[in-house]
Amino acid sequence: MNVPPDASMLEAIEEAGIKVPTSCREGTCGTCETDVLEGVVDHRDSVLTLEEQAAHDTMMVCVSRAACPRLVLDL
Ligand code: FES
Repeated sequence: MNVPPDASMLEAIEEAGIKVPTSCREGTCGTCETDVLEGVVDHRDSVLTLEEQAAHDTMMVCVSRAACPRLVLDL
């Protein structure tokens, strides 16, 4: 799916009919943490440590975005 510039990844996922557990929707609680199978993430949350962010194997879909053309998530 494509994520429009004015929408969050979470909004695009929900628009596609896929349910992701959420709470804060601000990148602070960790509820929406989703496994990343492929790609590089532009992390914008305050949950993951710098080391966890650098691994690019999980992300908070409510605020973080792709930092590459294609991101593969385990939804
Ligand atoms: S819903 Fe809280 S970090 Fe995404």
